[in-house]
Amino acid sequence: MKKEFILEFENVTKYYGNDLVFSNVNLKIKKGDVIALTGKNGCGKSTLLKCINRLENINDGIIKFKGIDISEISMVELRQKIGMVFQDYNLFEHLTVLDNLIIGLIEIKKYSREESIRKALNILKKVDLIEKKDKYPDELSGGQKQRVAIARTLLMKTDIILLDEPTSALDKEMKDSVLKLIKEIVDEDMTLIIVSHEDEFIKNVSDQIYVLKNNCMEMK
Ligand SMILES: Nc1ncnc2c1ncn2[C@@H]1O[C@H](COP(=O)(O)OP(=O)(O)OP(=O)(O)O)[C@@H](O)[C@H]1O
Ligand SMILES: [Mg+2]
Repeated sequence: MKKEFILEFENVTKYYGNDLVFSNVNLKIKKGDVIALTGKNGCGKSTLLKCINRLENINDGIIKFKGIDISEISMVELRQKIGMVFQDYNLFEHLTVLDNLIIGLIEIKKYSREESIRKALNILKKVDLIEKKDKYPDELSGGQKQRVAIARTLLMKTDIILLDEPTSALDKEMKDSVLKLIKEIVDEDMTLIIVSHEDEFIKNVSDQIYVLKNNCMEMK
């Protein structure tokens, strides 16, 4: 059976304790779609992304990946299918840039160390960070960390990439280089959900813009 949608939200509701974050969110995303999500600080954008790869549990409704309820998909499989770039990078501070890049390939993708290093070095060239391969995250600038985080997710070749405010902490120059990288991902026909306040950029790259407001999802 042909599955038309790669990701679907059906009446999804999320609380933290007694605090409602969002209710009855409905979304249907096709393969290759670029979806932007905006909304005020604290409205629940990061939470919504985390629900997609089960870093947070939902309280009601269903999230489906290729027609299957994600609660029935193992965490390992979900990690193979859906990658996330976090708002605060989430790099492993005790690992070098290169080791940050290969750990997922070895542990999730089950590639050999040699193969993983080869792939990691290739992508480091692409994001212009090859000379930083033996550095630790605290030796990098925000923009460089962000590029490592994006590279790490790209390497996993997931079906969907979730990007949480990939440029919020960056200066103009770094912002431009990260946006250029994201544009390249968009042009490769990836399915992307991007949380961003870069209005001009998201208007250019996204198929649909949503706003989380008053606990509800609205189309812009
Ligand atoms: N682990 C948690 N436990 C309890 N409440 C949380 C937790 N994480 C976030 N919240 C609360 O849930 C709400 C939504 O947070 P979230 O981080 O999803 O917002 P956001 O839209 O991503 O905000 P920002 O634009 O600042 O990144 C906020 O009120 C926040 O304080
Ligand atoms: Mg957030």
